[in-house]
Amino acid sequence: MNAPTSVTVRVPAKVNLRLAVGPVRGDGYHGLVNVFHAVSLYDEVTVSPRSDLAPGQAVLSVDGERPDHVARVPLDDSNLAARAAALLARHVPHATGVHIHVHKAIPVAGGMAGGSADAAAALVACDALWEGGTPRERLLELAAELGSDVAFPLIGCTAVGTGRGEQLSPLPVQGTFHWVFALVDGGLSTAKVFAEYDRLRPDAPEPTLDDALVAALAAGDARRLGAALTNDLQPAALALRPELGDLLEAGRAAGALGALVSGSGPTCAFLAESADHARELAAALRASGTCADTVTAHGPVPGATVV
Ligand code: C5P
Repeated sequence: MNAPTSVTVRVPAKVNLRLAVGPVRGDGYHGLVNVFHAVSLYDEVTVSPRSDLAPGQAVLSVDGERPDHVARVPLDDSNLAARAAALLARHVPHATGVHIHVHKAIPVAGGMAGGSADAAAALVACDALWEGGTPRERLLELAAELGSDVAFPLIGCTAVGTGRGEQLSPLPVQGTFHWVFALVDGGLSTAKVFAEYDRLRPDAPEPTLDDALVAALAAGDARRLGAALTNDLQPAALALRPELGDLLEAGRAAGALGALVSGSGPTCAFLAESADHARELAAALRASGTCADTVTAHGPVPGATVV
């Protein structure tokens, strides 16, 4: 069989249903109990061989519907997708240089793990392109080496992440939940939000899972899920971007079952009762003038998939 000439992988964004953050550890990371939920907002990553580049070396290009987001994607070796190609190339026999093209729909630096999703997609796409046959467990380990949020988009659906967020166990979920994501101008640095968290919470307790959240997911109960959503990084994100408080309040006033900053922000997530309710909520949020735009999505959805 001939090797493929290009491989495209579709990969979902995530929202954190619970982000419990413990004290800072000796290695500078924070112990987390992080409930990841994959939603139907996808980047597409296409890799094709480049014979003029060394094995594992990558050139990047990016396009997408939001020029302000596209412009913020780094096109050099600091891009996590390029680092994913370089890392995998050290572990498979027939690696080549690659062109990595990212079609972006996930907000950039938005707290929805878009950069991590692209890295996960690049691992899967390069492994298929290079016919590496890397076992899933090994891909998960390589993903965890790249960043705390890179392993989750490989498995998708809903999972709890412990350690620095990279040790994953799937959580049972019934049915589908409907979401609105409110986009705001500019991004937030994850490292800066964690640093602000340390300033606000020098006494942070050890993070725990919440039985009410687990039960709401297992029952497919959106109302109970909405009441159980929490994010310990939210006060830190609000301290850095106080205007997000008005956005969350606008969503609650418009009938969201739950409202929270997604991950380290600044994107905010709102839980709706149904797909119709999500569309109404999105319209109300846009009319409130507290966000730049909205997208609707549902979850859980599967992880990175070759298309
Ligand atoms: O692992 P990743 O590179 O995605 O993390 C980005 C930054 O977020 C880290 O440099 C660190 O400042 C912060 N972080 C943390 N604790 C975690 C995960 C991330 O402090 N568990």
